[in-house]
Amino acid sequence: MYTSRITGVGSYVPETIVTNDDLSKLMDTNDAWIQERTGIKERRHIQKGDGNSTSSMGVKAAEIAIKRANLTKDAIDLIIFATLSPDMYFPGGGVRVQDMMGMSTIPALDVRNQCSGFVYGLSVADQFIKTGMYTNVLIIGSENHSGGLDMTTRGRSVSVIFGDGAGAVVLSRNEKEDGSGILSTHLHSEGAHAKELCLEGPNTGAWVPELMESNPQENIPYFPYMNGQFVFKHAVSRFSEVILEGLQANALQASDIDMLIPHQANLRISQFVQKKFQLSDDQVYNNIQRYGNTTAASIPIALAEAWEEGKIKEGDLVVLAAFGSGFTWGSAMIKW
Ligand code: UT7
Repeated sequence: MYTSRITGVGSYVPETIVTNDDLSKLMDTNDAWIQERTGIKERRHIQKGDGNSTSSMGVKAAEIAIKRANLTKDAIDLIIFATLSPDMYFPGGGVRVQDMMGMSTIPALDVRNQCSGFVYGLSVADQFIKTGMYTNVLIIGSENHSGGLDMTTRGRSVSVIFGDGAGAVVLSRNEKEDGSGILSTHLHSEGAHAKELCLEGPNTGAWVPELMESNPQENIPYFPYMNGQFVFKHAVSRFSEVILEGLQANALQASDIDMLIPHQANLRISQFVQKKFQLSDDQVYNNIQRYGNTTAASIPIALAEAWEEGKIKEGDLVVLAAFGSGFTWGSAMIKW
């Protein structure tokens, strides 16, 4: 059986910076509340007419990742696209990327696992490479949240958190025989809590006109809903569990971690996990301060930035961990 390794990373965020003060002009919120509860200082938002979409941002991140992998787009065998904010209700973003990048008729697979989408996508790609079916898989996480958020006081507990952006990696068949690459991935779900963090409409149980008719103005089902404290409590325990699961599966200790890249849900969640595993600031990468929560894009953006800043070196143990809507959660253990 083959193994896989990440050979290229890339990211792209829209130019427009939206600060907490900017949001306080649209809704009853303030910089102090947002920073204290989430750690977020600013996020990026797509602007109408700036040419960005979920798929096009994914393409920009992908082009960087493919170049850094020393490949051309023709070497890619499969596209895996993770998002909760596709350009269209259907088809998904994978085929849009295939078209925009002028790729041949390679398969394109969409992953609908929200904040865990990238880790799920990485795990799927790893299986395809292990079996020998594919050699180079492009995995993209991209989100355009800003167009779909309730930017009034009614939606403030959700809208201040999310931001736009994209990240991508190329996962390739590992040519090295030094124990490097993806060591293991660990995936979980608990659908009993699907409604605690969701966007209900439009759905096939009730299309938009029906949803609008049957719901009062203050409960509009086509904006995301999050039971913040409930999600927070589950997040801290699931993050910890799934990191521990990965460590145990590889007979490793928390002290072996060189870089933990948690999904950027809330700085307080990352800090809780850091403390639990007694990791130093150098062992955990956070950029939620600058981008907010970019769901499926958050891990690949953070991974690309950590790599660019020289914080990930050959031989390092890199741990990815995610939790989010579904609920779904997962981790990936990587020897870089
Ligand atoms: O990525 C997927 C996974 N997502 C997560 O893991 C997110 C988990 N949850 C959280 O990060 C936090 O629960 C939030 C950041 C969403 C909220 O923080 P919180 O400390 O749980 O606040 P809360 O929802 O309990 O609200 C506290 C107060 C409320 O006012 P009262 O009832 O105490 O008067 C809210 O109305 O803060 C109010 N509030 C705000 N105030 C100013 C809620 N949102 C805002 C806001 N600005 N944006």
